[in-house]
Amino acid sequence: MVIAIDGPAGAGKSSVARAAAAALGFTYLDSGAMYRCVGLAGIEPGADLDDGAAMGELARSLAIGLDGERVTIDGRDVSEAIRGPAVTEAASRVSVHPQVREAMVARQRRMIATGRYVAEGRDIGTVVSPEAPLKVFLTASERERARRRAAQTGEDGAAVLAAQRERDARDRTREHSALRAAPGAVEIDTTALSLERVVERVVELARERGLA
Ligand code: DC
Repeated sequence: MVIAIDGPAGAGKSSVARAAAAALGFTYLDSGAMYRCVGLAGIEPGADLDDGAAMGELARSLAIGLDGERVTIDGRDVSEAIRGPAVTEAASRVSVHPQVREAMVARQRRMIATGRYVAEGRDIGTVVSPEAPLKVFLTASERERARRRAAQTGEDGAAVLAAQRERDARDRTREHSALRAAPGAVEIDTTALSLERVVERVVELARERGLA
């Protein structure tokens, strides 16, 4: 079973999903980390990230391990390597391919079937688990999202905003699993809310629905 937390980059999904999972005693699933692994595995040998068939094959061949904060590819710790700006860009590019998405969605569904999860991503409520008993769509203003990412990574604010605009456009307009709120999703605008307040709201919703 899964509580789905979707939304654009910087809306607070990771912090909220992680904290809500801890509060509820559920397992946290960072689906974006999986796309980042494919992006990293694609740029290391300098593969063509726009080749859907090749990226799909790569996605299917990777042994991705997710254990709390620790992310591995074929046993190698890539937790930090997948967070760099080049991988952020590569992940956005490889995630447009249906072959890559199919491979990741199948794995995510297998994981979710084994326990109680809070999963964050772009398509958890729309594609991975439309039957999720609680779907949350987090948003925040474009400027606030860029400010948060710059504060997190130490990158220049204007550069973050420009790159974010490009990735947002790609996430929202891609043909397969474009980013949008799932039917029935509870939308929460986090622009002016503290992390604690958002987590409280998600936990409250889970309790109201008898999930915890
Ligand atoms: O949430 P994130 O920034 O770690 O995600 C990395 C990339 O993967 C981002 O470009 C969007 C994509 N992604 C996706 O297409 N579907 C998901 N469920 C999660 C992430």
